[in-house]
Amino acid sequence: MARNVPIHTSPPLFSFPIRMSPFLPKSLRLFLPAVLPLLLQLNAGAHPDKVEDRLLIHFATGSTPIQGDTWEDLTHGVKARVMGQPKLMNIGPAQALVFNGLSDWLLAAPDAATAKPVLPVREMTASAWVRFNDMQPEGGLCGFIQDNGSFEKGWLLGYDQAHFTFRLASSGGNKDGDGVLTNLISKSTVKPGPWYHVTATYDGAAMRLYVNGRLEGESRDQSGDILYPEAGKLTIAAFADSNELEILDGALLEVKTYGRAMPETEIAAVVERNAGLLAWQGSINDDLQFLVRPYLQAASATGMSIMAETNRPAAMTVEYAEIAPLTLTASVPAGTTSISTISLTGLKPHTRYFYRVTSDDGNGNIARGEVKSFQTLPGPADAWAFGLLGDTQRNPDVTRRCADGIFALRPNFMLHVGDVVDDGFAKQQWVFDLFAPCSDLFSYVPVFPVIGNHEKNSHWYYDYFHLPDPEYFYTFKCGNAEFFMVDSNKDVSPESEQYQRLEKALAASTATWKFTAHHHPCWSSDNDDYGDTLKGKPGEPFTLGEPQLQPLVALYEKYGVDIAFAGHIHSYERTWPILNMAINQKKGVRYIVSGGGGGNLEKASPQRAWFSIHVQSGHHFCFATVQDRTIQFKAYDLEGRLFDTFELTKAADR
Ligand SMILES: [Fe+2]
Repeated sequence: MARNVPIHTSPPLFSFPIRMSPFLPKSLRLFLPAVLPLLLQLNAGAHPDKVEDRLLIHFATGSTPIQGDTWEDLTHGVKARVMGQPKLMNIGPAQALVFNGLSDWLLAAPDAATAKPVLPVREMTASAWVRFNDMQPEGGLCGFIQDNGSFEKGWLLGYDQAHFTFRLASSGGNKDGDGVLTNLISKSTVKPGPWYHVTATYDGAAMRLYVNGRLEGESRDQSGDILYPEAGKLTIAAFADSNELEILDGALLEVKTYGRAMPETEIAAVVERNAGLLAWQGSINDDLQFLVRPYLQAASATGMSIMAETNRPAAMTVEYAEIAPLTLTASVPAGTTSISTISLTGLKPHTRYFYRVTSDDGNGNIARGEVKSFQTLPGPADAWAFGLLGDTQRNPDVTRRCADGIFALRPNFMLHVGDVVDDGFAKQQWVFDLFAPCSDLFSYVPVFPVIGNHEKNSHWYYDYFHLPDPEYFYTFKCGNAEFFMVDSNKDVSPESEQYQRLEKALAASTATWKFTAHHHPCWSSDNDDYGDTLKGKPGEPFTLGEPQLQPLVALYEKYGVDIAFAGHIHSYERTWPILNMAINQKKGVRYIVSGGGGGNLEKASPQRAWFSIHVQSGHHFCFATVQDRTIQFKAYDLEGRLFDTFELTKAADR
């Protein structure tokens, strides 16, 4: 069931014990224990997840938990003391930290000495995503400042009753000997209600203030190094100096500072990527609306779950029928969260139903979806098809093209092999970067996901997806096939609970086709995730895939898995059938990596891997059709051009 848990701890990428595979060459088996921790770091580092240049402070809601009265930022350079009790709350499409205007704020550093390592010296940027409940004459979002009579030193990204402000004092502006603050004021009017992105920059010669990516203030009155007071504190959600404390009455999504002046183009790109958040203008009193339009989950031959998210908790009703009028109904009352699930049961197999979702907040506000349709999953004698997508991450334009391409081929369902978003804790990414571009597809076609590393085991994955128990691992049947969905972030060693569940399920399966899906690949030609194939690094082994998943390879071979699907590597790769570390056309397991749904692209090693039949870098999606003992598999680029295909007919003894 969908749940809403306020704060979660992210587990490390791989938290399970490292075990050696008997399939690895002996030299590698002896070598790996010493270097594997390094390899795992490399694996995370080589993946195209950028560490931003000269980032000093990065607080973002949900990403790291508040523990007691301490909140560590994402750079791990700052441990803020949490004053009062700011609350993590859903505000429209985002989950934000809400400050009460009276006692809630963050003391990022209590004195100058503690703050010094993260204070910019000359060039700087401070940015925030903020939404006001109320505004005040001298408000602060982030800064280190003293503004006491003629004593004016430090800097503050802040606001007044109708504008954003940026105050800064520098050595070049220090005409009176005790500092002079220049106060830049935004041109446009700022008001309570919507989300804003505000950025202040100083490059040693000019101060600039940007609101929602637009330059709204500039001054050249200051120059040289920033002039800091000897005493002060680094604050967030407050303006605090030695004689004043003004606390934010509103919400923050993110606060970042850098030791460089961010150029306008970079600021504009940040805003562009979050256009959906800026467009959201709702408040608690507004009409009820869908944040995530109705979508399909947990399909079976006789059941379908329908989910939707509204901008506040509401009761949900589904009207449905095989043909209009929609005479059947199912309802759930308003829950504690805004995500609702209705599971329809007792449906006819391989049958189309029309449906419409209506949400009602009980105060006369209604959100009503369009009439859509779904089809229950086919039975063992039917022909059927499925789409395959991976690593959509944070690229909604590409994801939309992939989703449209898959939908155009009319699959019975879709597999998503993980990294559905870039940061699993950033709620707005689920709304704008996954569900918005996939809205049409997901309203007609149920999606079966596995969890990637970018989901960070966030509760949002389990909230937004309605999966069979125990959720991190599950199986489902379609036609004459069974799918085994594995969490490759978790332990898959033979002693692990997941391995034993998987082995039991594989052993019990009577399906003609056995397919597995998990995020990380057992085999990959990638040029830098599994050893540096371009320049080489001393002592670094080439593993050509995730060594930790080798127990799965043994299981797949033992139980005759036909195809193992994965993502994580942002390209496409199909292997020859593999058995016992060799190509075996009769009894081998095929592996397909499809991580082309949006994440930054990756390339293959310059040398061909022994197992690879087709490797190709590029955004893409896949589609497969199954009839009796024959499968046709196809891979398409964003233009809809077929770039790989194969047909496989199973022999009677497999
Ligand atoms: Fe990944």
